[in-house]
Amino acid sequence: MFIGLDLGTSGLKAILINEDQTILAEATARLNVSRPHDSWSEQAPAEWIAAAEAVFDQLSSHNLSAVKAIGLSGQMHGATLLDASDEVLRPCILWNDTRSHAEAAAMDADPDWRAISGNIVFPGFTAPKLAWVRAHEPAVFDRVAKVLLPKDYLRLWLTGEHVAEMSDAAGTSWLDTGARTWSEDLLAKTGLGLSHMPHLVEGSEVSGQLRADLGQRWGFGTHVVVAGGGGDNAASGIGVGVVRAGQAFVSLGTSGVLFAANDGYQPDPGTAVHTFCHALPDTWHQMGVILSATDALNWFAQLVGQDAADLTQGLGPLQAPGKAVFAPYLGGERTPLNDATIRGALIGIEHATDTAAATRAVLEGVTFAIRDCRDALAATGTEITSLLAVGGGSKSDYWLSAIATALDTPIDIAVAGDFGGAFGAARLAIMAATGAGAEIATRPDIARSITPDPDLRAAFDDGHHRFCATQAAVKGLT
Ligand code: XUL
Repeated sequence: MFIGLDLGTSGLKAILINEDQTILAEATARLNVSRPHDSWSEQAPAEWIAAAEAVFDQLSSHNLSAVKAIGLSGQMHGATLLDASDEVLRPCILWNDTRSHAEAAAMDADPDWRAISGNIVFPGFTAPKLAWVRAHEPAVFDRVAKVLLPKDYLRLWLTGEHVAEMSDAAGTSWLDTGARTWSEDLLAKTGLGLSHMPHLVEGSEVSGQLRADLGQRWGFGTHVVVAGGGGDNAASGIGVGVVRAGQAFVSLGTSGVLFAANDGYQPDPGTAVHTFCHALPDTWHQMGVILSATDALNWFAQLVGQDAADLTQGLGPLQAPGKAVFAPYLGGERTPLNDATIRGALIGIEHATDTAAATRAVLEGVTFAIRDCRDALAATGTEITSLLAVGGGSKSDYWLSAIATALDTPIDIAVAGDFGGAFGAARLAIMAATGAGAEIATRPDIARSITPDPDLRAAFDDGHHRFCATQAAVKGLT
């Protein structure tokens, strides 16, 4: 048996699978985000450990003595700062925190960052966060002994080892993404050195052994290895078999991601497309990332005092976009805008705009932002012709129909449901324990396919034009 753990932003998910990759059990624990100031987004690492304890408690109703390996997937880019005794120095600054936009812009003006890391230095990436801490919390910065990504802090708890893997490390801005090594030059520019970084492994390699005391607590056997794993998007790619050029998926989680596998390292740092290592050796991928996907829907649900799932369930078949237009830039945007200060909008509302119409506008706004990611990927030469859907938002057929129609691209739904990152992590655990490779990262069985609605294509093109006009207007406001 194998376990995959996916440390998301809104919760930690665990799945237990057998050697045939059949899902035997799943468990989840919720997580909250703290936003103490405009553009800040933080979590206490102790809550990740509490969530991991909760999911292991749930899974231990099964006999876990046959578990051979655990794989890790997690929200990317977070800065978990530890002192020399591995004590957490401050709350983790998360991927959707844009406080360090001035530091990011200053770093990005130095061409070495894009040349070596293969990407724009986005405010959400890890290195500018350290520059912010250095400038605003110097006493904390002086005590930083190790910088870990969120899932790698879970690994430290599980194994006692400081280890990162390539796909998540590529989102720090400190990785030489083509060479798959830390760049000492880039680290030095942030006042850090190799000693501050965890050791690097590939996602499918062993990163350490489960601590004996934890093993005993939940009834594991004596020899359980922990695989490198992957950033949540790369791990989802492994979970849905997106590992070669021509394969792609859309993820509707807190963030929205359009992810395409590449045959080689194809950086295009002049654009806001991300180019990162994949979770398998010698493979890379590109993606467009929007900061608010289900996050936008959840914001609206909270505003109207309803449950997000209830809002989407009653929508019926896909409709042409209405007059209301939503721009989902609640906390800035990455692809294609790289704009930390832009904010969202809900315009074109009228007397007839009821809760359902506004819900459709919110889903359409995220949909059009994902279409912008598709266009940004196409401009780098990466064409997407079919997609698989993962993430909590993919439970909404209405949303997937809107995306399929706006992108004129069919979207497949896997039988396994919403298991992207956790399932991919479990597959990486199999690879680490057995030496299996990419051949086990097959495309899952497809339950059904959502196809573009030809009668609504023109209406969605028109909706996208109005979305672009809204985007331009909001840019002018901030
Ligand atoms: C990717 C990104 C998000 C997080 C969310 O660059 O920032 O998708 O990984 O979990």
